Amino acid sequence: MKITFFGAQPYDRESFDKANAAFGFDICYHRSHLNQRNVALASGADAVCIFVNDTADAETIGALAERGVKLIALRCAGFNNVDLRAALRHAIPVVRVPAYSPHAVAEHAVALMLALNRKIHRAYWRTRDGNFSLHGLLGFDMYGKTAGIVGTGKIARELIRILKGFGMEVVAHDPHPDEEYAWNAGISYVALDELYERSDVVSLHCPLTDQTRYMIGDVAIGRMKPGVMIINTGRGQLIHTEALIDGLKEKKVGAAGLDVYEEEAAYFYEDTSDRIMDDDVLARLLSFNNVIVTSHQAFFTREALDNIAHVTMRNMAEFAAGKKLTNEVCPDPVAGLA
Ligand code: NAI
Repeated sequence: MKITFFGAQPYDRESFDKANAAFGFDICYHRSHLNQRNVALASGADAVCIFVNDTADAETIGALAERGVKLIALRCAGFNNVDLRAALRHAIPVVRVPAYSPHAVAEHAVALMLALNRKIHRAYWRTRDGNFSLHGLLGFDMYGKTAGIVGTGKIARELIRILKGFGMEVVAHDPHPDEEYAWNAGISYVALDELYERSDVVSLHCPLTDQTRYMIGDVAIGRMKPGVMIINTGRGQLIHTEALIDGLKEKKVGAAGLDVYEEEAAYFYEDTSDRIMDDDVLARLLSFNNVIVTSHQAFFTREALDNIAHVTMRNMAEFAAGKKLTNEVCPDPVAGLA
């Protein structure tokens, strides 16, 4: 089976070449992200393998089908960048890696929280410059504070376990509450408004759907506690970035840790340091000393890369053997997905 990879980074090649030793697929790696303009790179391939910032919209999927591509394999969990209805129309199954390391993402969310709270990013530069003053570095005890967790899936549950270890109170919101889990974990489900009103830290762990797009905007921020910390390791469009910037300027938002950004595709995963930044919103975000932006790296651990490569190859092998696809993304139950 011939597979064309898009958005492939050197670390992808390394982990996939290693995993492919057991499968022997014919792999062609491309650095560029899949989009309508470069779809020809997939000519002759049986499958394409894509990541979070590749675009598989209806036109691209149509062009892939014309070129004989029969499978879209996501090497990630989220699938908001794929037009599932278009894939269904062209009878191209979509497979993904539902969970490669919820620990990796949860731990990164905690890294952002602690760094922002204790101003580690600022202290690092200060001491290197011989400045040992504590001015402006005052943090708060995590113990006894309230964390509001939006979505209580695999990643959120790992995060909640860690935050409970700090002695935090946890309130959560999920349209599909699991009361048995909540009881065992010692958390309570509340309405979103109550979550915003009570939380010192709000962390987003739900998928991007028509319902969740821009859920954090003026209104939500208006309901939050003054000085709230907002963490987003979910998807960029969960937050209306300009509303967040207003909240930061008004000091309503005390800190923001963003591993994702709504216009990240133009920047994330690339070294753009020799270019002038033409995204004014991102530039403004990066100017705040109480904002940390990481480049969609929450998943990026050795364990997660190995899992991604193995599960993706297994997904391909199932397809090649005509077997039932364990990790197929089914369009029906996700009606309304972005
Ligand atoms: P999951 O599918 O296990 O959990 C998602 C939870 O969100 C479910 O409990 C679901 O009921 C809930 N949910 C759905 N709609 C909601 C709404 N409107 N409000 C609140 N909750 C809602 O997913 P998992 O593995 O925990 O991942 C969560 C998200 O994290 C993914 O959708 C993906 O976008 C993002 N992600 C980010 C990564 C990164 O590197 N930054 C890596 C992996 C995932």
